[in-house]
Amino acid sequence: MEQNEIKPTEKRSFIRQILESIDDETISFAGGLPDESLFPIEDLAKASEQVFKNKKHFQYTISNGITPLREKIAKFYSDEGFETKPSNILITTGSQQALFIIAKYFQNKEIVIEKPSYLGAVNIFKMNNLSMRPVALDYDGINIKEFNNIYPSIKLAYLIPDFQNPKGSLYSQEKRDEIVKTVLEHKGYIIEDAPYSELYFEQKAKSISAKIPNYSFHLGSFSKTLSPSLRIGWVRANEEIIAQLTQIKETIDLHSSGISQYILDEYLKDENRYKKHLELLRYEYKNKMEYFIKSLQEELPNFVFEKPKGGMFVYGKLEGIDTKALVYKALKKKVVYVPGVEFYLDDNVSDEIRFNYTHSTKEEISIGLQRLKSILKG
Ligand SMILES: Cc1ncc(COP(=O)(O)O)c(C=O)c1O
Repeated sequence: MEQNEIKPTEKRSFIRQILESIDDETISFAGGLPDESLFPIEDLAKASEQVFKNKKHFQYTISNGITPLREKIAKFYSDEGFETKPSNILITTGSQQALFIIAKYFQNKEIVIEKPSYLGAVNIFKMNNLSMRPVALDYDGINIKEFNNIYPSIKLAYLIPDFQNPKGSLYSQEKRDEIVKTVLEHKGYIIEDAPYSELYFEQKAKSISAKIPNYSFHLGSFSKTLSPSLRIGWVRANEEIIAQLTQIKETIDLHSSGISQYILDEYLKDENRYKKHLELLRYEYKNKMEYFIKSLQEELPNFVFEKPKGGMFVYGKLEGIDTKALVYKALKKKVVYVPGVEFYLDDNVSDEIRFNYTHSTKEEISIGLQRLKSILKG
């Protein structure tokens, strides 16, 4: 019997190769990892203790996610004026799974993506045979002229409007409004991936989906705000679509970890505590971002970038430098980042870099950037 071909994901294997060669002495600006010292471990331990008292929490549960947690997530939306019911929410195993389920739902279709885009999504789209149409991304959002040219015939787009991965870009309100207009006019869909939305430094941007609730998939996650290891994310969409997505999810894993859901639900009962935690994250990440860019300006003055307004990444270019070739030298000097070319479908961009600034300590940031500087000098 002939086997179906699994689409090769070369770029993924390059990043895996980088991540696998990281040892304890290597300073990594590569992964999109939160600062471990900010995980609210004591509060999560208290929540777990409560959860572990009830045997029922160890039983199978429903596929769309436990009701009290869906109620709390729905309330986050409604409190911001985006009317949402628990039946609009499907809890998923990270937002990564939400992307997979939605890609399955739209398999074999065409999809507009940003250029550059999140590699984890690109690989899912490849797996599900979605044909991708990249549109240039500026620091204030997708190029609207290009978007308006190709969206009408495709009617599906994958966007990361808040502090994009990899670029860190934030869509302007004007661009958000333009997208709403185009989607409504052509009755298409957008997938709005928003794992970084709460990590803003100034003010929270308004989601595009709020204005097109029946034409959008809004994705959220606790990975960047609480802990990625819990593996809990969600998708917000209209009820009929949620019912269909739930059927797909059921075939994948029956349901996301019940224990993780109960722990999150218990933790979120104290709404104020979660709000304070988010404020702390914003404060600490802004502080680290300022430190990172100050160090960049001192150690790598030729690195051209835009100052991030939130999220976890600073993105830019070292004009004339092949950053993929440089990463091998960097690994030998025990520092690592992701070359920008990895986030494009083609290999035309060679001098861009994505740095993660949230995971390393300030001391590691200084040492890591000094190591890079010494390679560039040598
Ligand atoms: C844009 C984007 N979407 C989705 C994910 C997946 O996150 P998770 O599955 O942990 O919620 C990530 C992780 O880095 C991401 O950057």
